[in-house]
Amino acid sequence: MTARTTTPATSEVSAATYDRLLDEVLASFEHTPDPRARQVLQALVRHAHAFLREVRPTLSEWSYAVDFLTRTGQRCSDTRQEFVLLSDVLGLSMLTEAINDSDIEAVTDSTVLGPFHMTKSPPRALGDSIDMVGTGTPCLITGTVTSAAGQPLAHASVDVWQCDENGLYDVQAPERIPAGHGRGLFRTDADGRFAFRTIVPSHYPIPTDGPVGELLKTADRHPYRPAHIHFIAAAPDTAT
Ligand SMILES: [Fe+2]
Repeated sequence: MTARTTTPATSEVSAATYDRLLDEVLASFEHTPDPRARQVLQALVRHAHAFLREVRPTLSEWSYAVDFLTRTGQRCSDTRQEFVLLSDVLGLSMLTEAINDSDIEAVTDSTVLGPFHMTKSPPRALGDSIDMVGTGTPCLITGTVTSAAGQPLAHASVDVWQCDENGLYDVQAPERIPAGHGRGLFRTDADGRFAFRTIVPSHYPIPTDGPVGELLKTADRHPYRPAHIHFIAAAPDTAT
């Protein structure tokens, strides 16, 4: 009898065995009724098998991977989305955005949603301030929402959210930042224009006290995002 070890097998397990295993799993999904679900599941299996065949994880490495994903899920809450962070730092959020982006040159490129759009922005009137604290550097934001053809869109919704001058969103420090600080939901005027007052946001680190922080530390990557304000513009019967 041969003792089981944690050392990955090499020569004794042939590529033919790996191929047979892959074929069996792919076949097990062959009768998935929804064709799109079948395509996605079989592609996932093919790529995951190729990944493992490339990196040849030890059993302890595989166990760490399972534990990492388990802890990533456990770190999620109503006000924190560790899986979105993971998707962001792996470039998967941005790739999905790019895949779904409009091909029309004039349309503003979309970008990642980020992990802090988990509360509803308070409706505000045009020209109002989204700053509810008053300690940052004031600034005025103006813009126009148009169709891809350049036609101004009246009564379009403009949802904005940002961090404060210390790099914190309201949900990250609810004990001292009022809910809704740095957030606002506006409607464009008859000419598609919007304007609001706010403060200059700071660059900020993504949360590093969870599994994604652990990943960044392993890779010696910094956790900072440049200063920015998030926007979602939407109008009835208009793709966004
Ligand atoms: Fe952000």
